[in-house]
Amino acid sequence: MDSGANALIVVSNRGPVSFERDPSNGRLRAKRAAGGLVNTLGPGARRHGAIWLAASTGGTDKQPAPAAMLADEQVAFWPVTVKPDLYHAYYDVISNQTLWFCLHGLWDTPRRPRFDRHWWSAWSSYRKVNELFAREVDRAAPHGATVLVQDYQLALTPSIVARRRPDLRVSSFVHTPWCTPGELSSLPDEVASEVLAGLADGGPVGFHSPRWAAAFDDCVKAVLGTQATTYVAPAAVDVEGLRKVAASEECEAERVALDGAVAGRKLIVRVDRMELSKNILRGFWAYDELLETRPDLRGKVVFAALVYPSRVGLAEYQAYSQEVLSLAARINERWGTPEWTPVLLHPEDNYPRSIAALRSYDVLLVNPLRDGLNLVAKEGPSVNERDGALVLSRQAGAWLELGDSALGVNPFDVSQAAGALGRALDESPERRSADASRLRLAAGLRTPLDWFDDLLRAARGSGPGSGCAEGS
Ligand code: F6P
Repeated sequence: MDSGANALIVVSNRGPVSFERDPSNGRLRAKRAAGGLVNTLGPGARRHGAIWLAASTGGTDKQPAPAAMLADEQVAFWPVTVKPDLYHAYYDVISNQTLWFCLHGLWDTPRRPRFDRHWWSAWSSYRKVNELFAREVDRAAPHGATVLVQDYQLALTPSIVARRRPDLRVSSFVHTPWCTPGELSSLPDEVASEVLAGLADGGPVGFHSPRWAAAFDDCVKAVLGTQATTYVAPAAVDVEGLRKVAASEECEAERVALDGAVAGRKLIVRVDRMELSKNILRGFWAYDELLETRPDLRGKVVFAALVYPSRVGLAEYQAYSQEVLSLAARINERWGTPEWTPVLLHPEDNYPRSIAALRSYDVLLVNPLRDGLNLVAKEGPSVNERDGALVLSRQAGAWLELGDSALGVNPFDVSQAAGALGRALDESPERRSADASRLRLAAGLRTPLDWFDDLLRAARGSGPGSGCAEGS
């Protein structure tokens, strides 16, 4: 690791590895962490020899692993050990059930949010954990180091670090969308102010899309009456890394298995966390409507949904997951025949299988209600081997870069999505090939190292570089 001015500290809740218990011997074993963050941050963190501070979690989102187990990957991993109760309040109650829901517009308003005594106690845990991360940054960072803080779980950390250590060059990056001032006003006033100031007073704040940066600016103006410094740097796909996985034996075996199940039919694919904002239910309802309105497609198409578990401790996610499973089963019951299973649902975390599906799709469905970027929309075209089409929500951050060559959908409009799936399946080979090469090009314009350089430039004060526009 470099010392002083070249030293680099990356700070995120989730680190590059997660743990699962080996059923044969009960021991924890490390595996690649789920979610887009590790793919986005990993290449830059490795290239720059960063120290990576992240919460020490275990086989589930709640279970801390022994610090000694975390020395993995090619980065200097610095575990921030958080006690399970504290972690639950900080991660589940505040980060996921509150901030995530607010930023993605997911409230079920007759019931939630509910800011009661239990919630306020969780808020104080959120503050404590953000403070704990800031303390660890203080310990880890040599004089003049650059500190890149990631995401809404650590919204208070940037300003604490900046206040405590004026010698450091601090910036943050928010991987989610940002909401409007009206939506943010559902949070208690002091919480909205603290979250906004926690980010805005901790150096430049980055987003994947100009619309989220503009929304953050609007909130800062409306709530704090000040001006934030924001910048825009859309994350990019690690094409080389993806191709390595695509060429692996595991991936090839999964591709052959999928090919066998699809048996020459057209293939629609989605790859997502089992996540409310990913809009998995409406994707299935659209497919159901497609089969109803297009009898010619019955028996001729398969929808493979690879939806790996996420935030499994939360009641909302458990209920959503149940709904997804039963809807998939209902569609199979309604339309399936002894020879044809219309939906192949894989609710497990199997990365080589996900990449195999991305290699094989005719249509990739990415229909989030709202998404910071959606890396799958870029990963798919980068590894797909069939000139597949992309049906893309206009509410995904990636829409700005990919929308020209995708079939756009309003994520709430099931009939529109059904129509778009049908049109995508009908496209001529010439049109498919032209769109697929434009998508590939757009998805490959930047690398994760370009993205990382944008973050470094923003933190080191020389302003964002090419492909990275200033928000204000
Ligand atoms: O999109 C925001 C984000 O925090 C990513 O950075 C991350 O990959 C994803 O959500 C998953 O979140 P979690 O770590 O809670 O599973």
